[in-house]
Amino acid sequence: MTVPSPRRSGLPPQVAGLESGTTRGLLLSMSKDPDAKLTFLATSGSGLRERVAVKVPTTPRASVAVEAEGRMLVAIRRLPLGAIRDTIPRYVESTGGSGTTVLVSTALPGTPMSVSYHGWLHTARRDAVRADFRRVGDWLRTFQQQTCGAAMPLRWATNVRDDVAGRWDGHPDLPAALGRLDLAEEMLRDQVLPRTAVHGDLWFGNVLVTDDRVSGVIDWESGTMAGCPLRDLARFALSYCLYLDRHTRPGARVLGHPGLRRNGFGTGVRYGLLGSSWFSATVRDFLASGLEDLGLPRALWYAVALVGLGEVAATANDETFGSDHLGLLARLPAYPRWERRRR
Ligand SMILES: Nc1ncnc2c1ncn2[C@@H]1O[C@H](COP(=O)(O)OP(=O)(O)O)[C@@H](O)[C@H]1O
Ligand SMILES: [Mg+2]
Repeated sequence: MTVPSPRRSGLPPQVAGLESGTTRGLLLSMSKDPDAKLTFLATSGSGLRERVAVKVPTTPRASVAVEAEGRMLVAIRRLPLGAIRDTIPRYVESTGGSGTTVLVSTALPGTPMSVSYHGWLHTARRDAVRADFRRVGDWLRTFQQQTCGAAMPLRWATNVRDDVAGRWDGHPDLPAALGRLDLAEEMLRDQVLPRTAVHGDLWFGNVLVTDDRVSGVIDWESGTMAGCPLRDLARFALSYCLYLDRHTRPGARVLGHPGLRRNGFGTGVRYGLLGSSWFSATVRDFLASGLEDLGLPRALWYAVALVGLGEVAATANDETFGSDHLGLLARLPAYPRWERRRR
């Protein structure tokens, strides 16, 4: 892997060292989205006092995102953060020329939850799945308590509804999707809840785990210091459901999940929200407990899930991923009990 020349781009020494061979490191990942970034772990070398993660954008838009991540890391680490302080990378520096910002932050211990998630039958095992939700639930509760600000009327559903309507104007699934979002908005409208910091992309690939706890939460590009705490709650639950059928042949049953077959986009989400298995109970309890922690009624869990799907439809970088979420939202029942009674 060739890293852009430091002479041309003014890259930080950690990256320059990787290129010249004076810093030891490895390429951790190369994101697949159209605005990809390369992430290196620099472990030892000239002038390196700690292990750092170096994130190198490959497009101008990726560079803007990486710059935003650097600002977010600085802002968030100014807060006390309590027991989760060490789970958020510390900003080290960011440099670069020719419109490219390279971000250097401290490397955190642990293994991405995506590694165990995709391990053989991990998501078929009740205890393993419950432990994943418990770890993230614990982290999120502390994160939200530590970053809690003023209570405000809940505007999230309204904003998502408007963004979905704006992005998907003319799409055949839009009217039905908006119907779901209108109902969710009605249920959430009168709620008042504190604003907190929001990670903004809290899926299991951005969570690092050691032993029985979250050891790191990375990738703060979409973070905000004062936003709606329900966003992270919904995003984690929905993304955990979405890939349940990833290792199953199309049409086949998903092992460990009675009633779930791999059958088109988002069947795992439908099953996670509406099914009658231990898995669905775990997902619903994660959402309901998160609401309770924030002082909101547990019964709003389904409305939160609907708006969470709408948010992905509104914001996804990838058009197909966005429209698939729109279709999934359009085809979910307005109320969860309607579906469960039909079973
Ligand atoms: N601070 C860090 N500590 C340890 N590993 C990291 C850190 N930052 C990134 N990584 C590793 O690099 C991968 C990609 O980083 P991420 O910030 O999620 O990039 P992307 O925006 O491309 O998803 C992560 O899945 C993780 O394995
Ligand atoms: Mg990531």
